[in-house]
Order: sequence, then C-alpha cells, then structure tokens
Amino acid sequence: MTDRWTPQSWRQKPAKHVPTDYPDGAALERVEQTLRSMPPLVFAGEARRLKSLLGDVAEGKAFLLQGGDCAESFKEFHADNIRDTFRLILQMAVVMTFAGGKPVVKVGRIAGQFAKPRSEPIETIDGVTLPSYRGDIINGMDFEPEQRAPDPERLLKAYGQSAATLNLLRAFAGGGYADLYNIHRWTLGFVADSPQGARYKELSEKISESLAFMSAIGITPETQPDLRRVEFFTSHEALLLGFEEAMTRVDSTSGDWYDTSAHMLWIGERTRQLDGAHIEYMRGIKNPIGVKCGPTMEPDDLLRLIDALNPHNEAGRLTLIGRFGSDKIADRLPRLMAATKRAGRSVVWSTDPMHGNTLKASNGYKTRPFDRVLSEVRSFIEVAQAEGVHPGGVHLEMTGQNVTECIGGARALSEDELSHRYHTHCDPRLNADQALELSFLVAEKLKSARMADALAKAVG
Ligand code: PEP
Ligand code: CO
Repeated sequence: MTDRWTPQSWRQKPAKHVPTDYPDGAALERVEQTLRSMPPLVFAGEARRLKSLLGDVAEGKAFLLQGGDCAESFKEFHADNIRDTFRLILQMAVVMTFAGGKPVVKVGRIAGQFAKPRSEPIETIDGVTLPSYRGDIINGMDFEPEQRAPDPERLLKAYGQSAATLNLLRAFAGGGYADLYNIHRWTLGFVADSPQGARYKELSEKISESLAFMSAIGITPETQPDLRRVEFFTSHEALLLGFEEAMTRVDSTSGDWYDTSAHMLWIGERTRQLDGAHIEYMRGIKNPIGVKCGPTMEPDDLLRLIDALNPHNEAGRLTLIGRFGSDKIADRLPRLMAATKRAGRSVVWSTDPMHGNTLKASNGYKTRPFDRVLSEVRSFIEVAQAEGVHPGGVHLEMTGQNVTECIGGARALSEDELSHRYHTHCDPRLNADQALELSFLVAEKLKSARMADALAKAVG
C-alpha cells in the first residue's frame, strides 16, 4: 500500500464489480479520453468545505443527512424529480436541526449515482441468460442482449445528466428556493394531508414565528444572506473506476488530486477489500470519502482500512456507514465503535438502515419493511450513546416521489400495494412520507440525547 499512487494505479489491483466485457475496448478508451477533457463537475475547494463540515460532525457538533436514489436513471431524469428530492432533504434537515439543535450537513446521493454492484453477474429468465443490469452508466435495464451489453457512450450520457442535475441543484440551493422564509412551500403535495405533513406544518409554524422574531430584532435575509441559501453537496458510490479516474484532476491551489465527479465518494460493501482496486483509487484522492461497514466487518479489518484511507487521522476525511440489518446491528456495531474510539481515530459514524433490511415480498417484489429501517436507526443511536460516540448521520435511499417500494410507515403500505408505483431502478426507496417520518424519529432521539447531555452537565 506504500507504492506510489496515481489516478491509474488501481488498474494494477483486482477490481470487483468493474465490467470487463465491453464489446469494443478501444471505444471505451476513447470515451475515457473525452471525459478527461470535460470540465470538472465540482471544485476542490467545495470538497474541502464539505470535509471541514464533516470534521464538525466527527467532533459531535453537527449531523450528516445523506440521501437520494439507489440508482439514478436516464429514464427518470426530470427537473421535478430533482426538485422533489432536494426539497425532501431540506424538510428533513429542518426537522432534525430544530430538534437536535445542531447544523445538518446536506449531501445528496445524486448527480452521479449511476453504477451498481450486483450480487449476481448474470440473470436468467425463461431459460435465457444475459448479463445483469449494472446501472445506466454501464448497460440498460431491459432484458434484451443489446441493452445488457456494456456501452461506453453511457459514460458520456451519465456525465451530461450529472452536470445538468448539479446545475439545477446549485440554482435551487442558491437562487432563493431554499430561502427559509419558503419553509411552508417545501411541503410535497401528497404529504400535506398525511400525519407527517401535519407534524411538519406545526414545526414550520414554530420556525416562522422564530423568523418573525428575528426580523423584529433586525436579523433578516438582507442582513444575513445565509437565510436565503443552503449548502448542498453531491455524492455517489465510486464503483466504475474508469469514469472516476477520468474525472480525477490536480487542484491548482494545493497540488492535490481530487475526484471532481462529486464532492464525496464512498466505497461499497462489496468492494472494500484492502488490497483491491477501489481502496487503491480512493486512498489517493483528497475528497471526503465513505466506507460501508456490513456485518462481516471485524474491528481489526476496520482499523487497517482506516490506516489506508486516512493515515493522517484527518477529521472529516472518513465517514463509516454501518449497514448491518436491524437484527444484527446490536451485535456487530458496538465492537466497531469501541475500536475506533479506543484507537483515537477521528471518523464520522453514520447509519445506512436500508441495505441490511432488504427482503423479497411474497409477490416477488424486493422491499424493505419500514419498521426494520426505523429499528436500525434507533439501535444505531442507542449503541452510539452507550459507546460514548456521536451518532453522526443517516444514509438513506429515498425519493420525493410518492412511490410504493417499502412496506409499512404511518400509511401502512401493504405488500399488495407495492405494484402501484414501484419505479426504482435498483433497491426499494423510502417515499417522502416515510423519509419524513424517519427524520422525526431521529429528531426525537437527538432531542432526548441533547436533554440528557444538558442534564449531565448541570448535575456533574
Ligand atoms: C448502495 O448504497 O446502493 C449499496 C449497494 O450499498 P452497499 O454497498 O452497502 O450494499
Ligand atoms: Co441500494
């Protein structure tokens, strides 16, 4: 691991889940060459800003909210979908900030979340076997040979869609839409008449009252422009390393390498081998990065990964994203948290309550029971408190659309209803109602933690 790093050095290591079956390898090289000359999607300074905010999370002064599609797709690319995910994140962040009394760092799984690791490389239907769907940046979802063959042109299309998505997100974040005075208007139509909608309305009224008070004493958007905008960052799984390599540039101010395809990148559960290509690539870029930690992760493995990825113990560089399953977290997480704490490693601990809680419904749909999702989040916060570690964040697959993909929630979505609006290109996502419900749960937990802290300080 001490060998010299270059944006290409990952090519000398075993790379899982990176396709090697492009019918025309020269065409792939040409596309990667074209991408090398395309403008960066994000700037190094922005990635550094996110790293510093995540440093606050690592120190317990802020909270991370990371969420969006499991897989973005060319088909679902629409301004309304981007806006709806963006405003859902704003709503959730408001709920959590208000209760937790701490700033919420907002990071979308968006503007680049296209490549998917698959448990099976092939799929067989009625005796026909084809390569599995691996995300729109690699191949197509339809079960046809031409669609399932990897196509390099898809890298350019994904780049273009990411650029357009990011452009709109920047406009929403800075152009007035995210103005806190618009808080009532963020409510998504179909959520307005749900129990979560009513809770949100109550909260937004309290915030409006506070804003009115602040204006009365002279704190207005004119004197405090930050009331009018939010900081919003992008992230995706760094899976398709040829694409990430082509987007890797030297930052002229620091001389360091950054992956300019997103502010934050993470390594998935299936590609976190210490001697593998993904760790090799990620160790050399200076962006803030994440690593998924599943039920097979042992404390020693984790410490070795941390040494490889964050050798200087820089706060905000590394986010550990636990994804154990609601039935395993209480057994697996405490030893990992204890290990990072004992070894004095500065990390953000976050929870992904989605990927360990996937099951097949009796009608064949892949789904996630909402009560298991909530249960994993609850256990995450409880374990963190017991270990004296900051429960730093949540990582969710969710959408602002009114989909029917995860069962349960306040509207008690049933297995029979899954077929109504099941649109995901990969894993089942929380809909806006369910995501908001989850943010209220996190808020309550954070609030009681804040009270307990205050009490301990007052007494002790
Ligand atoms: C994902 O985040 O979509 C994913 C595939 O997760 P994991 O690597 O944790 O399985
Ligand atoms: Co997923």
